[in-house]
Amino acid sequence: MSPDDKTSIVDAAKKVLDGNARDGYTAPGAGLYPHQWLWDSCFVAIGLSHYDPERAQKEILHLLKSQWHNGMIPHMVLDEGLAHRADREFWRSYVSYDSPDKVATSGITQPPMLAEAIVRIGARLKKAERRSWFLKVYKQLVAYHQWLYNERDPHQEGLTLQVHPWETGMDNTPPWMSELHSHQQNWWIRLVAKLRLDSVVTIFRRDRHLALPGERLSSIDALALYAVQHRLRRKQYNIDKIISHSMLSIEDLAFNSILVRANQHLKDIAKEIREELPEELLQSINKTEAALDQLWDPYTGQYYSRNFASHDLIKISTIATFLPLYAGSITKERADQLAGLLKTSKRFHPRFPVPTVPTDSKYFNEHRYWQGPVWMNMNWLIIDGLERYGHKELAAKLKEKSLEMVEKSGFCEYFSPHDGSGAGVKNFSWTAALTIDLLSN
Ligand code: GLC
Repeated sequence: MSPDDKTSIVDAAKKVLDGNARDGYTAPGAGLYPHQWLWDSCFVAIGLSHYDPERAQKEILHLLKSQWHNGMIPHMVLDEGLAHRADREFWRSYVSYDSPDKVATSGITQPPMLAEAIVRIGARLKKAERRSWFLKVYKQLVAYHQWLYNERDPHQEGLTLQVHPWETGMDNTPPWMSELHSHQQNWWIRLVAKLRLDSVVTIFRRDRHLALPGERLSSIDALALYAVQHRLRRKQYNIDKIISHSMLSIEDLAFNSILVRANQHLKDIAKEIREELPEELLQSINKTEAALDQLWDPYTGQYYSRNFASHDLIKISTIATFLPLYAGSITKERADQLAGLLKTSKRFHPRFPVPTVPTDSKYFNEHRYWQGPVWMNMNWLIIDGLERYGHKELAAKLKEKSLEMVEKSGFCEYFSPHDGSGAGVKNFSWTAALTIDLLSN
């Protein structure tokens, strides 16, 4: 790519982030995504840090304002406008005593990318500014990590559990959908399926305007996700009640891999500002690195998510198998094995890697959301991990392919691994932000 091409792509990406700027935060995309989302804002802040660290800091501070009294950072901070009343009523965060007093939010979290964003912003600041930035956010970041262990690792095993596929950020990823369907379905969902009323449901879906047929979840899957949310709300988002009713809970591989890296960043932040992390938190942190290895299956040579109650690995292959590279805690030997899988297996390495499920999977569909398409944030995490494990060439190739996709199709939400064509929302914030990051490093 010539320097001029680079400049014009970066300029176009900045325009996307300006177009999606709202009052204090950046929405993921116009129309379908009007609110602030946790990991979206972290990726956005990483992009912004290269040219506007002040706005990047504001993005994170806006997110922190929504922190629950128990320490949770919710996955969505809901827009206050009249137009979004229905969304606020859908979540009703006020049913929990732990919810914040002045902001309406969702009642669940999302992958803990916060520490990464904080550190990346810090890297763009001078030493004194960086220290005061870290000091400003430290307490809340610690409280968030403490919440993750206190509430989501009830047996103190080192792995945290998630209670809704939305918490993984990969809404219809096959391991979760398969666990969801193996749970008792609500009678009304079974009825809708039996009477084939799902086409009626489709009329009311917000994402029905997206161009390609079959590129989102089926209406039955979407209803199943709403039903889980409804049950969580009925339990006032209280984890003890949720677990005691043996509701859907999974120790998600991608989430926990991201947590391992976030913990490392948290330790680095504490060191730089000469703070001591609470002893109990440190003990949990140490357990997570070892626990991640329990998700490895030697027979298939891959990592998987695990059912929280039964401890059975959910052996359905997805892109998450590569996220321990990003975690950075696995052995060099294991990392080489994963890099080898990514490089040599055609099913994980089509023309535009990395597909969210391998191309020979029964779930694969080149355009269907988290069941096939390539997402820029996933590629970014894998590139980062590969680089740290010394697989520079593979990382560079993945980076080149990711940028080629954007050059070809624009800042789409996701892309076909076969031909790089774009799908989902156009002018998607994290695609733009991470393009800036990849081009700036
Ligand atoms: C979708 C994605 C999720 C993202 C959200 C906002 O729900 O699956 O990862 O955070 O949209 O962009």
